[in-house]
Amino acid sequence: MTKAAGKTGAGPTVTVAIEQHFPPGQRVLDDDLASGMLPGSMRAIVRMTKPASIRDWFVRSLEKPAPGIWGGIMVRKRYIDEKLAEAIGQVDAIVNLGAGLDTRLYRLPELADTPAWEVDQPENIEAKRRALSRLFPAAPANPTLVAIDFDREELGSSLVAAGYSADARTFFILEAVTQYLTAEGIEATFGFLSRAVPGSRLAFTYGLQSFLDGSDTFGQDELRRKYVDKEKLWLWGLDPDEVAAFLGRYGWHVLEHPTYEELALRYVEPTGRDLASTPIERMVYAGKL
Ligand SMILES: C[S@@+](CC[C@H](N)C(=O)[O-])C[C@H]1O[C@@H](n2cnc3c(N)ncnc32)[C@H](O)[C@@H]1O
Repeated sequence: MTKAAGKTGAGPTVTVAIEQHFPPGQRVLDDDLASGMLPGSMRAIVRMTKPASIRDWFVRSLEKPAPGIWGGIMVRKRYIDEKLAEAIGQVDAIVNLGAGLDTRLYRLPELADTPAWEVDQPENIEAKRRALSRLFPAAPANPTLVAIDFDREELGSSLVAAGYSADARTFFILEAVTQYLTAEGIEATFGFLSRAVPGSRLAFTYGLQSFLDGSDTFGQDELRRKYVDKEKLWLWGLDPDEVAAFLGRYGWHVLEHPTYEELALRYVEPTGRDLASTPIERMVYAGKL
């Protein structure tokens, strides 16, 4: 059974596809595959937002309850793309956990020769398979798609059954995924990551615990009510001061821990766009000891 979080798999890719309507110099992220990766109904939404007035209205309406969400998606993708490109030659494999309809493993030419796996719930893996057969009539042999639920199934054995070697220095990605996992799912996922070989890398995002528990909503009460209280979609968060100790328990150490505001200085400011930065999510880049 697909969990409700499965419905979020396409969302970031819809925003990235709409971002492509901005002129090249104003785009935070270039992605010529995003639109094609989406199912037909969502491609229609992307087409409808082509006129600048509708595109800008769409961005504003998404930002209203969640200021910084648009820029947050763009900068986290840019950051992970960059870290991946830098790590090529130093890792033997890439595993994108909760990959949704993200395109980077098909989009970045530097990654083409590194064996890769994309893991998500069955519904999203099937959607991706359909999109890939539309985009690339000769199906790409790499990455391999793996359908599992991290909260209920064993990640390590599922990946090994799909051809992954546990001895490979691996670049793991957990982008906009941890907030959807149960405490047991987090323990199982990071328990799996604790067995990664030294030299492996991990880029992951997390939601702030203070937002989850309501002690600091950063003025985004409506958003919290919807995703935390009502839909119970966002389940897990971390306190930034506890990230190093949390990772240390699983044998990882923090290499970088930027705020989205810092990432926006790097990726948004050069575009001249005026985009808010989300205070409720953070990015971590870590190395395996
Ligand atoms: C917000 S989307 C992010 C997708 C992609 N990483 C991106 O940033 O474009 C969250 C993804 O995590 C996946 N996910 C959430 N909980 C999961 C679970 N228990 N097992 C497997 N995948 C899960 C969802 O199916 C969804 O594709």
